[in-house]
Parts: sequence; structure tokens; C-alpha cells
Amino acid sequence: MPSFKTLLAALALLAPLASAQIQGHCDPIVQQQSNPIAKQYLKQSTGTLNGTIGIIPIPMAQARNLIPAKYQILTKQIQQWLPNLGAGNYPAMVQIEQFHDIYHKGKSAGSGADFNRAQVMFPFVDRLGDGYSAFTYSSAVIVSDAAGSALSGLKKLGYKSATGGYFASCNAYEYENATSNLALPPNRRGIDQAAWTESNTNLGSPNIAYRYVPVANFPYTINYFYNVTNQPTFSDGDNCNSLVRLYNTAVSSGAYPPVRLQGNATALAGYFNQGTSIWTNIYGLKIDVAYHTPGNVKCQSLKGFNVISAP
Ligand SMILES: *[C@@H]1O[C@H](CO)[C@@H](O)[C@H](O)[C@H]1NC(C)=O
Ligand SMILES: *[C@@H]1O[C@H](CO)[C@@H](O)[C@H](O)[C@H]1NC(C)=O
Ligand SMILES: *[C@@H]1O[C@H](CO)[C@@H](O)[C@H](O)[C@H]1NC(C)=O
Ligand SMILES: *[C@@H]1O[C@H](CO)[C@@H](O)[C@H](O)[C@H]1NC(C)=O
Repeated sequence: MPSFKTLLAALALLAPLASAQIQGHCDPIVQQQSNPIAKQYLKQSTGTLNGTIGIIPIPMAQARNLIPAKYQILTKQIQQWLPNLGAGNYPAMVQIEQFHDIYHKGKSAGSGADFNRAQVMFPFVDRLGDGYSAFTYSSAVIVSDAAGSALSGLKKLGYKSATGGYFASCNAYEYENATSNLALPPNRRGIDQAAWTESNTNLGSPNIAYRYVPVANFPYTINYFYNVTNQPTFSDGDNCNSLVRLYNTAVSSGAYPPVRLQGNATALAGYFNQGTSIWTNIYGLKIDVAYHTPGNVKCQSLKGFNVISAP
């Protein structure tokens, strides 16, 4: 896998920059579009969520080992949504995203509240045992260290959460080889992003990382991404989180459309499996969305929540 090794080697060369950015707050380098729903949902938190969602096809038996045995997997829903995933496969997800322009109950949290989050996630989990409501499970998450309040919320949900550093720091992702890339229209640029925990100082081995390039041939529907990312999320605690992503605002359309991607991603042990996992030629989506969330709530109150209407 020469290209991916090149990425890792390139990341190692960024050591002084990256370690400097593991500490301290976030000085945005790249302009992010502002929260288009800041003055709506006045009883909730809102913001934008910019980044990538990659689909990792893994054998169902492996998914079964990674998702707590007490929960069933809603395999019929997976087959209906993803007929091209391959029989007997399960769609794990790798997400690295930036939270930006956060508002709580209509009040700006300030630019220092922006943060990045990386995790491997397991959708279509029958959290309530009703054979119907789809939830997304994840056990571990890395947030950039500006995110004190996000970290405590994630800990309350039962995540093994760690603070860490990102490259590109304070950005949703980095355009590769910026000079030549910037001459291309945004829908043709290659991108990468990587996250390290503070306890992992090996900059050649990010805990979670990817490199993607835009592609034309794509096996999944965009509606799948819209639907699956709206499943409520949970970890080992009693509560769940419903973060509603709106795919029809100004930050997801016009000059900022969803971009279909193909590329490679990796995760260290603890974020997926034992040992380092490398996934090659997976497909994903690059998109910015507006979101609103009431925070953590009782899982039972999110029963049937997955019946959303796509834009
Ligand atoms: C992903 O890895 C494969 C296999 O090494 C390589 O052919 C491909 O170019 C890589 N993709 C990207 C976007 O780097
Ligand atoms: C998403 O993030 C990238 C990288 O930081 C940035 O170039 C792009 O403008 C952002 N998109 C929006 C809609 O703000
Ligand atoms: C990066 O961009 C420079 C300037 O356009 C070009 O000379 C170089 O070959 C590019 N490197 C890669 C790996 O694409
Ligand atoms: C989203 O997915 C759920 C679960 O598969 C399904 O019940 C719902 O109808 C879907 N919504 C749309 C708009 O397809």
C-alpha cells in the first residue's frame, strides 16, 4: 500500500507542527461557513459539522465481536439500504469531523469552543431490543482538547474518550499538496486528516486517519449517508444522544455540495480491533451539515427515531 505509507511518512515529517497543535486552543486557519440555524432550536445546541464519513465493509462475524453481544444487529435494514455492500458484510463507519460555530440555547459558545472528533462507529444496533429502532454504537472517541464540555458529555454517555491532536488542526481536513490541489475545483481535490491521542506521541501512527480522493463511480446512495448519520448514538452508559443533521441548509448545498470519495483509512487498537486496522479503497462522503441536539437523553425516548424524512 505505497500511497498510504506515503501518507503516514508525510505525517511523521509534520511532527513539530502536530505536537505544537496537540496543546492549546484552536486558531482556525481555514474559513468555515457559519451556523445557518444559530437562531433556531433555542432550547437545544446547534452548530455545523464538517468532515467525512467513510463506510468500512467488514464481515458480519467481526461486527458481532465488536458490538456488545446483548444487542442484536438490524441486518434486514442493512440489506435494504446497502444491496451492494456484499452478502454477509456489515457497514462500520469511520468519521472525523469538526464542530464549528456552536450555539447553546441561542447563545454563541465562541470560536474557542470549536473542536474535532474522530471515531469508528457501528450503526444498525438494536439498542432498545424492539427489532426496529436503529442506533449507532461506538466505544471510543478522540476529541481535540478545546472540547472540555464535549468531553464531559461523551464521558457521561460511557465513551472511552481521550483528548488529542489533529492534523490538520482546527480544520475539518487538509487538502493534499495544497499548491497543486488548490488549482483544482473543490470537488476534485484529495484530502487527508489524522488524529492522535495525547498518550500516543508516535506521529507516524495516528490513532485514526484517512486519505481520500473524489470519485465518480460510487456504490452507495447519498440518502444512505443522510439516513445513517441521523441514527441516535450510544456507548456503554444508560443515556443516548440524538444529534439531528440537516442536509438541506446552505452549508450542504450550492458551493458546498456533498462530494463522493474513495480512499484509505486506518485505526489503532482500541479504536476498532486488536492491532492496527488498515482499510483500502473504501468509499465515503465529504460534507458540511448544520445540526441540532438536545444533549443526552433517555434511550427509550428515541424509539423509532430513525424514521426521518430525507431532503
Ligand atoms: C489506497 O491504497 C491503495 C492500495 O495501496 C492505492 O492503490 C490507492 O491509490 C490508495 N488511495 C488513496 C486515495 O490514496
Ligand atoms: C469544510 O472544511 C474544509 C477544510 O477545513 C474547508 O475548506 C471548507 O470550506 C469547509 N466547508 C464549509 C462549508 O465550511
Ligand atoms: C505537489 O505539488 C507540486 C507543485 O505543484 C508538484 O511539483 C509535486 O509533484 C506535487 N507532489 C505530489 C506528490 O503530487
Ligand atoms: C431511514 O432509515 C430507517 C431505518 O432503516 C427507515 O425506517 C426510514 O424510513 C429511513 N428514512 C428514509 C427517508 O429513507
